[in-house]
Amino acid sequence: MDKLLIQGGVPLSGDVAMSGAKNAALPILCACLLTNEPLRLKNLTQLNDIATMLRLIGQMGVTVTMEGNDSLILDAGGLNKPLAPYDMVKTMRASILVLGPLLARCGEARVSLPGGCAIGARPVDQHIKGLQAMGADIHVEQGYIQARATRLKGARIFTDMVTVTGTENLMMAATLAEGETIIENAAREPEVVDLANCLIAMGARISGAGGDRIVIQGVERLHGATHSIMPDRIETGTYLCAAAATGGEVRLTHTACDYLDAVIDKLREAGCEITCGPHEIWLKAPARLKAVSLRTEPYPAFPTDMQAQFMAINCVAEGTAIIRETIFENRFMHAVELIRLGANIRIDGSNAVVTGVPHLDGATVMATDLRASASLVIAGLVAQGETLIERIYHLDRGYERIEEKLSRLGASVRRVK
Ligand code: UD1
Repeated sequence: MDKLLIQGGVPLSGDVAMSGAKNAALPILCACLLTNEPLRLKNLTQLNDIATMLRLIGQMGVTVTMEGNDSLILDAGGLNKPLAPYDMVKTMRASILVLGPLLARCGEARVSLPGGCAIGARPVDQHIKGLQAMGADIHVEQGYIQARATRLKGARIFTDMVTVTGTENLMMAATLAEGETIIENAAREPEVVDLANCLIAMGARISGAGGDRIVIQGVERLHGATHSIMPDRIETGTYLCAAAATGGEVRLTHTACDYLDAVIDKLREAGCEITCGPHEIWLKAPARLKAVSLRTEPYPAFPTDMQAQFMAINCVAEGTAIIRETIFENRFMHAVELIRLGANIRIDGSNAVVTGVPHLDGATVMATDLRASASLVIAGLVAQGETLIERIYHLDRGYERIEEKLSRLGASVRRVK
């Protein structure tokens, strides 16, 4: 298994380009299932999760044609097997995103029920409840969601909590339903808007995406389209944190401050100077950051996917920060690893109290999930001496060529086999 070896203590500096958003790409790849015409996607990042999704839809009969490194054409004209098997769903929970499109286009779907995952139980009851409201007959049998519907019918759906993939699944299903669907309490995440834009380009009639009430008028069929995936706001935020923590000065390109308000606000509060260009962001860090408290919430508030990275920067900031995680029940696993590097962190339920220390010391640590891994990379870049991060397959799920990008910024980072 690959590991990442980091020699810490170098302030990051220079330019690096950000990739397309993983969490926008995953639902958009599933959108191809809604039509028998080709869907061309651009700015697609090369990640393990994307490869898994391509394998998953490929085994359903979708033809994938690569066009260079970051562009491809998906053709679901030959879709013949509406099945998502357990061995794929268990490695990537976002596989549940095939359920809505398959049911809408094929009238049936058999999708493995995802289990719990490292950061929490993460049920999919809201996806099921919404599809049932649209007339689907759904039951769970031998660990699989078995869904059927001759044609889905528009409905008014209220989700119990804000769910990102739940909103995306239901929005995709509703595009081909008969009549009007209203999703109340919808997720407002920018990735939901990117998906809506792609669906609209395919002929869907959607209004309100980006707000908490999305209205979809079902159509008989969708057609082919070309869509460019939005920049990855979480990758961008992670590189901003890495530069901030190391006292660096960087310019991130192919990205923008849009959608990063909560993160940029906290970085400014920590003492960073940030300038926003139309397609780039500059950050200049102070000699030492100030501790910043935060609370994770659905968009537009502070994202849970940036919580671990901010815990890392608070580890070496001046003062004490309180971090409150409200989305996932078990998302502090990076704390024990950060403590191994010398951090002062106390966990109390869904709160973490982080008191900054003057420096961290390199050690061997273990990555436990995607964003936890990112926090360990940031801590390793700051720590004195050598940090070895084990199980970096988690990082490869969400960060494209991370060692190459960090090396461009002057970091000493090497992948060891
Ligand atoms: C998505 C993101 C993930 C991010 C998360 C929260 C993708 C591929 N992943 O995950 O990176 O961390 O949003 O911003 O976009 N819940 C239920 N029942 C449901 C659905 C959700 O109880 O049917 C709960 C979850 O357990 C969690 C909360 O609702 O506590 C929010 O989860 P959700 O927004 O659905 O997360 P994902 O869409 O899986």
